[in-house]
Amino acid sequence: MHTTAIPPGPTEGFDLGGSDESLTRLQDYFARFGDVYRIFAPARGTYNYVINHPEDVKRVLLTNHRNYTKGEGMDRVKILLGNGIMTSEGAFWRRQRRMMQPSFHRRVIDRFSALIGEVNEKFARRWADHSARGEAVNVSSDASELTLEIVLKSLFGSDLERLEHQMGANPFEVVTKQSNRDLKFAFQFRSLGKLLGELIQRRRHAPEEHFDFLSMFMLTRDRDTDEPMSDKELIDEVLTLIVAGHETTAAALTWTWYLVSQHPGVAERLAAEADAACADEVMGLGAAEAMSFTHQVLQESLRLYPPGWLITRRAIEADELGGYAIAPRTDVFISPYMLHRHPEFWSDPEAFRPERFAGPDADERHKFAYIPFAVGPRHCIGENIAMFEMLVHMRTMARHFRLSRATHEPIEFEAQINLRPRSNLMMTVAAR
Ligand code: HEM
Repeated sequence: MHTTAIPPGPTEGFDLGGSDESLTRLQDYFARFGDVYRIFAPARGTYNYVINHPEDVKRVLLTNHRNYTKGEGMDRVKILLGNGIMTSEGAFWRRQRRMMQPSFHRRVIDRFSALIGEVNEKFARRWADHSARGEAVNVSSDASELTLEIVLKSLFGSDLERLEHQMGANPFEVVTKQSNRDLKFAFQFRSLGKLLGELIQRRRHAPEEHFDFLSMFMLTRDRDTDEPMSDKELIDEVLTLIVAGHETTAAALTWTWYLVSQHPGVAERLAAEADAACADEVMGLGAAEAMSFTHQVLQESLRLYPPGWLITRRAIEADELGGYAIAPRTDVFISPYMLHRHPEFWSDPEAFRPERFAGPDADERHKFAYIPFAVGPRHCIGENIAMFEMLVHMRTMARHFRLSRATHEPIEFEAQINLRPRSNLMMTVAAR
């Protein structure tokens, strides 16, 4: 027998995800209604459901994932990203994901070690100059530039320089220079597709040896039809990776420096681990992952401030979550931000305690209480490379510098597509 029970919820309507206020609302509603509630969405004229129990999260994202599409919000994202793997659905998504997945294998990611190391060293030199001049560093914008450079170089290799030369400037700079994610931005960003089309054509006509994601995507073949990706498909996937790969990682690094600056003991342990880490000139993936404390710091930062703070799915058929009926076409919201602070699954959830990711605490915790990269078939394809570049970044910088906040205003949140600090995080960098 299926339940027909309706969960509790507020009497007033609210469009979750539509504004920064969503985060405060989520906190308020969780306190009042618990793990499952519904809320009327004026924009769609229907009820949205919010779930915050790891078992229900597991059902939607993993065990019953076939019953869910991405739903709410994706139309807006599609204007920006086209039909890449972030937004596509069904058989097409499966085909594209299958074709791209091998390029994100650990063995392949490891080959980006030198690139990730070099970009970080370049920013370390920049920070050293700031430090010598006694100027604060804008960590938000540097993190954004750094992660953009890594994603662009991993996509285009040496062609990035060629493009910069040809255009007189980095044509993708708009991504960091403009922080509004409105229609005007979408238009500017999509116009880069033309440039990418030309680059793809040039590579088709004058094949050279490249090691980068674009060349891997051009070589990959559909397992059933043996067809390669079309130009349009390549363009959508590349534009998707630029946005998905850079903003999230930049936000995570910014939050991490903020948290570390508030915890001098953590800063000291980071520095000690950075000093002790493998002395090879280029840090590979294995050596990066061996820095266990640095890893815990990043995990804890992603727990408190998950850049992907709201995940949405739309039910295809009826389902049941937490004992309540889910009607077909219902939008179901999962907030990693809320889940990561669920008092039943986290002790002292507001506290920054990297050690909670080691030892028995970590082993005994519900696996689905922590999902900064989501879980299930649509989990983040870039998880390994994101962790790799963040580990190398923390190590490179912690080895040379000690960071402290240049101002002491409270940090405000901006909860748009990603969760990030509203204003720039300015830091004083002192050479160690
Ligand atoms: C700290 C950094 C990152 C975080 C926190 C993060 C988080 C996430 C989350 C939560 C999702 C699931 C979204 C949903 O289902 O609605 C996702 C998907 C995705 N991420 Fe990431 N991500 C990060 C870095 C990256 C990087 C570096 C790349 C690429 C180079 C990337 C590419 C993608 C793509 C393509 C998807 C869509 C996958 C699919 O639907 O098949 N992400 N990411």
